[in-house]
Amino acid sequence: MAPASIHLPRILRIGAGASATLLDTLSELGLARPLLVTDPFLAECGFAERLLQPLMRAGVACPVFAECVPDPTTDSVAACLSQLRSGDFDCLVALGGGSSLDTAKAVSVLALHGGAMRDFAVPATVTTGLPVIAIPTTAGTGAEVTRAAVITDTLTQEKMLCMGLGLVPVAALVDFELTLSMPRRLTADTGLDSLCHALEAYVSRKANAFTDSIALTALASISQHLRTACDDPDNRGAREAMMLAATQGGIAFANASVTLIHGMSRPLGALFHVPHGLSNAMLLPEVTAWSVGHAPQRYAECARVMGLAQARDSDTQAADRLVAGLHQLTADLEVPGPRAWGIAEEHWFANLDTMAAQALASGSPGNNPRVPEATDIVALYRRVWAA
Ligand SMILES: [Fe+2]
Repeated sequence: MAPASIHLPRILRIGAGASATLLDTLSELGLARPLLVTDPFLAECGFAERLLQPLMRAGVACPVFAECVPDPTTDSVAACLSQLRSGDFDCLVALGGGSSLDTAKAVSVLALHGGAMRDFAVPATVTTGLPVIAIPTTAGTGAEVTRAAVITDTLTQEKMLCMGLGLVPVAALVDFELTLSMPRRLTADTGLDSLCHALEAYVSRKANAFTDSIALTALASISQHLRTACDDPDNRGAREAMMLAATQGGIAFANASVTLIHGMSRPLGALFHVPHGLSNAMLLPEVTAWSVGHAPQRYAECARVMGLAQARDSDTQAADRLVAGLHQLTADLEVPGPRAWGIAEEHWFANLDTMAAQALASGSPGNNPRVPEATDIVALYRRVWAA
């Protein structure tokens, strides 16, 4: 077996007040001319201003690009790149959810190399970019630690995946206090995205001893704290645990890959614009049920650390309890099915073959313990619709 290869940011600062260390982080990295990249909501609600106050007091100018959009496009990336090129910046500070972080990552590559985003989509590998300091405001995507960015081509609507060491942020400031005001739906969806990252990383064919321990720790924590974070949004203990688990889940899947859930999730985002975390959550119980028989030991271990099964349960029993527990969790968190979310039945069924082809093309299903054919994926989409 090949040695495990682990990629991480150079600095990880985790805990209350981590985002307030931005000035120190910049100086530690020898950076002095940042551009803040964020979205209109975070700019207006005072988050950006609070982040920048210590810099202003120290005389460090930090202009703001606040036009990030959900599912960033080549157009929105071009607007940010244009602002970056209008000044003399040496790094980007990304504040927000996965969309703002992906925007900054994409701009960092184009700023250094020029060219079009498509030139950097897989199978190309991004080796270098301007430094990005990532400050996530959701406990979910893990984008602050991954070496990937997804940008939608404005013309074709294709979601382009860019990968490589050049996309790993140089620093991640992981501050749970930024998540205290997150609404319930976003808390649930991003938390379930993290759960998928950890679960998929643990059962992945690319799992290794390093990612295993981190994935199991994240799974245990998410199982214990996600409901509380949703029901009691000001619960600092639950928010802190979820934020740490989200970064751990990110580290796990960034270095072990995701599997069939994320593979089948991407077409739901591309075709029906289902938010990323929610589309994973819709698929989580059924895809797990279909997969458990091919790695019962691995799934059983997940069930045990999540408190869903006992040590005395056989692996098969424990794996079954995991599936039941995931159904219960998504029901408790009111995850809608595709019909309840508003997808038209004819639209869903007319696109099944396209969805299956796109899922397979992502490569992620090949890491699943049970590797599907296109017909298996179509059957799973049918099951998810009927669930
Ligand atoms: Fe994800």
